[in-house]
Amino acid sequence: MDPIRAAVVGATGTVGQRFIQLLSDHPWFEVTDLAASERSAGKTYAEATQWAIDAPMPDGVGAMTVKDAGADPDADVVFSAIPGGLAGPMERDYAARGLKVFSNARDNRRADGIPLVITEVNPEHFDMLEERKTDGYVVTNGNCSGIVATLPMHPLHEAFGIEAAHVVTMQALSGAGWPGVPSMQITDNLVPFIGGEEDKVETEPLHVLGRYSGNGKVTPAAFRISATCTRVPVLEGHSMALHLKLKGSPSTDDVVKTLSAYRGKTAGLGLPSAPERPVVYTDMADRPQPRRDRDAGKGMSVTVGRVRADPLMTVKCFVSGSNTIRGAAGQSVLNAEYLIKKGLL
Ligand SMILES: NC(=O)c1ccc[n+]([C@@H]2O[C@H](COP(=O)([O-])OP(=O)(O)OC[C@H]3O[C@@H](n4cnc5c(N)ncnc54)[C@H](OP(=O)(O)O)[C@@H]3O)[C@@H](O)[C@H]2O)c1
Repeated sequence: MDPIRAAVVGATGTVGQRFIQLLSDHPWFEVTDLAASERSAGKTYAEATQWAIDAPMPDGVGAMTVKDAGADPDADVVFSAIPGGLAGPMERDYAARGLKVFSNARDNRRADGIPLVITEVNPEHFDMLEERKTDGYVVTNGNCSGIVATLPMHPLHEAFGIEAAHVVTMQALSGAGWPGVPSMQITDNLVPFIGGEEDKVETEPLHVLGRYSGNGKVTPAAFRISATCTRVPVLEGHSMALHLKLKGSPSTDDVVKTLSAYRGKTAGLGLPSAPERPVVYTDMADRPQPRRDRDAGKGMSVTVGRVRADPLMTVKCFVSGSNTIRGAAGQSVLNAEYLIKKGLL
C-alpha cells in the first residue's frame, strides 16, 4: 500500500520526538508535515528542536520546516503531542477538517464518542467511530502511568475480576515534557506530587477496562483504584508498586501464569508496533528496573516482577514501562495501525 501521510503536531517536544523516531522507518506511514507552537514555526526542525533521544535524529527530518499548529496539516493523519489545556479544541478542529487524530493529551479523554484505547485491551471501543458523522475523528491515549498499570490489570481482571487496586507510581522526568522538572528540585530527591496525575490513574484504567455501551458511551469497570503518584530522578520509564484484590483469591502461581500467557487483542494481526508480549513477566528478584527494562518489546512491553501474596489485598507486584513509547507515541501508532486493519484509516 502507499504510505499514509502523517503530520506530527507538537513535533519538537518529548512525545513529538518519539513520534518522529517511531514513524521515520515505519512501513505504513510517511511523515509529511511537522508543526509546533508559533515559537518554532518557520524554523527548520533541527533549529527548533532540542533533540533528546539517544539515537540520532532521523535523516531528512532536520531540514523540514516546522509549521504553526494552527495551519492546515498536509497529511491524512495527525499524531498529536500538544500540551493538555490546548489540545482539546485544536484536535477537534483537525477532526472537523476530516483528519484522523491520535491524541496524547488529557483534554479529549473520556469524552462521549471519543475512544480512549489501549489496543490490546479495549479495541471494541473503536466501534464508536462507526457512529461518527464526519470523516475525521479523535482517538485518545490514556495517561502514561495509567497505560502501564492497565496492561497487567487486563488479564487479571478478565481471569479473576479485580475488586480493588492500590498503586504508588515512581514516574520518570521525561513524563514532565521538555525541559521537565528543575534539576535543583529533583537531584538527590523525589517529589511526591504530580498535579492532576492521581485522578487520571484512578479513573482512566476503569474506562479502558469498561464496556462500550453504545451511543459513544462507556460503562467503566466496577472497582476502585487508589493512587499516589511521585516523580523520581529517572530519565525514562515509569515504575509502580501495584497491589490488587482479586475475586476468588487466586494463588500467586495462578497470577504469574495468567500474566505470562497474556497476548492481548492484537495477537496475530501483524501490526508492526504490537509487541509479541504486551506484558513480560520476570522472576528476577530485583527487576523490573526502568533503566534495564524500559526497552522491552522496543518500548511497547510492560515488565512485571516481584509477584507475591499481599497480606492486605490478594497479590502485589512491581511494574515498569516506557512512558514516551508505550505510554504515549508508540500507543498512538499502534492504535492507528489497528484502525488501518479495521478499514477505518
Ligand atoms: N512526556 C510523556 O511521557 C507523556 C506521556 C503521555 C502523554 N503525554 C502528553 O503528551 C503531550 C505532549 O507532552 P510532552 O511531554 O511531549 O510535552 P513537551 O515536551 O512540553 O512538548 C510540547 C510540544 O507542544 C508544542 N506546543 C506548545 N504550545 C503549543 C501551542 N500553543 N500550539 C501548538 N503547539 C504547542 C511545543 O512546541 P514548541 O517547541 O514550539 O514550544 C512542543 O512541540 C501532553 O499533552 C502530555 O500530557 C506526555
